[in-house]
Amino acid sequence: MKREFTVKTIGIIHTPFGKPADAPIQGYFEPYAEGTIEVFGEYAYGLADVDGFSHLVLLYRFHEAKPPALVVKPFLGDELKGVFATRSPRRPNAIGLTVVRLLGREGNVLRVAGVDMLDETPLLDIKPYVPNFDNRTDVRCGWLDDALRDGKETG
Ligand SMILES: C[S@@+](CC[C@H](N)C(=O)[O-])C[C@H]1O[C@@H](n2cnc3c(N)ncnc32)[C@H](O)[C@@H]1O
Repeated sequence: MKREFTVKTIGIIHTPFGKPADAPIQGYFEPYAEGTIEVFGEYAYGLADVDGFSHLVLLYRFHEAKPPALVVKPFLGDELKGVFATRSPRRPNAIGLTVVRLLGREGNVLRVAGVDMLDETPLLDIKPYVPNFDNRTDVRCGWLDDALRDGKETG
């Protein structure tokens, strides 16, 4: 098994957030925060038919993340947690995932809402959000259950 492989940046995400402290902890909590996704010309054909979807899953690179760590302090919570039990940017592959609402498309540019990433974030992939595939019921959220119950946001 190959332990490394190369990924391609397929576009750039433009948002109003210039620095990490300005960005929402999750886009879910700021559903009206708008951004645009500029898909590079060579991938634009791949956007055919996305217009029919109200929500898209964005995968992207946390390009300004601090060095990776296996144990991190989450955005909300004072106790250290295993990085894979958090949404921290300080992951081995620094990959972020956000579900956004698709507001419109002009050619290779998508207008979206619910962004939580920094301006100029490199885009790695786009997938349609499909409740039948992606929704789960009877869910436990580990340490986050308490934070969410207390009205805090996830981090
Ligand atoms: C907790 S993460 C959650 C991101 C995504 N929704 C997820 O779950 O993977 C969101 C925070 O990551 C930071 N962030 C966003 N984009 C980043 C980037 N390109 N590089 C480094 N940090 C970033 C910001 O501080 C933002 O508030």
